[in-house]
Amino acid sequence: MTTVLAVANQKGGVAKTTTVASLGAALVGLGQKVLVVDLDPQGCLTFSLGHNPDRLDASVHEVLTGDLGAREAVIDTEDGVALLPATIDLAGAEALLLMRPGREFALKRALAPLLDDYDTVIIDCPPSLGVLTLNGLTAAQSVLVPLQCETLAHRGVGQLLRTVTEVQQITNPDLVLLGALPTLYDARTTHSRDVLSDVSDRYNLPVLAPPIPRTVRFAEATASGATVLAGRKNKGAQAYRDLAENLAKHWAGSELATFSPGSGE
Ligand SMILES: Nc1ncnc2c1ncn2[C@@H]1O[C@H](COP(=O)(O)OP(=O)(O)OP(=O)(O)O)[C@@H](O)[C@H]1O
Ligand SMILES: [Mg+2]
Repeated sequence: MTTVLAVANQKGGVAKTTTVASLGAALVGLGQKVLVVDLDPQGCLTFSLGHNPDRLDASVHEVLTGDLGAREAVIDTEDGVALLPATIDLAGAEALLLMRPGREFALKRALAPLLDDYDTVIIDCPPSLGVLTLNGLTAAQSVLVPLQCETLAHRGVGQLLRTVTEVQQITNPDLVLLGALPTLYDARTTHSRDVLSDVSDRYNLPVLAPPIPRTVRFAEATASGATVLAGRKNKGAQAYRDLAENLAKHWAGSELATFSPGSGE
């Protein structure tokens, strides 16, 4: 059984793309076959996995419009994850899809023929709640919400959760909200913890373990075209490895390990 996970939050810069790339590479480290899907016209996931979006002939755009089979557009990366890349063309997909019936199902339909090739598919949603994110949520079995633990992190979470509920009611009744993943987390201050407990209480949202610490290695990795997992040993890479283990065990039937911000773990 293939697991399809969407990583979504319409707030920008909360580490969606970093989470997709690092978690994907960590699952490959556990022996899984992994496909990551770049659903953002900015192509940051594509770029951070070592491919220049400007030099690609085929991308998720042609796949969503039905002009190309998904398998034809998938490329390899140095981290060992397969990538369905994005180019700026995807910015036009929104308008094209809007005129089509069943527009929220375009990605689900496109991925169906190659699901059997992978253990896990991870979808990087753009920072908006438009038709691309709706495609990501409709194609997924579960959704993970990266949350940057700073003041006002809760803004927009209610709107995102309402969208998830609407997707569950209309296009994807089986979608499971896994929970929030704390990112850019600073364990040295109580601020990150206070913000996290406020958000999880306010929305009754499970918090996944472990929180991902803030480290400068992520910016260095993005520039190098490989994820933090490829570099020297560091806290951020280890956190994503632990998250990968937590999720892999959960998908094999165990309970999901959660983090309780109040307990001072
Ligand atoms: N744990 C971390 N520690 C330090 N910097 C990080 C960490 N995670 C991500 N970053 C940095 O934060 C910035 C935003 O990350 P990223 O692009 O993954 O966010 P995003 O949610 O995908 O953004 P967008 O909404 O624009 O798609 C990047 O420069 C990235 O390198
Ligand atoms: Mg992104």
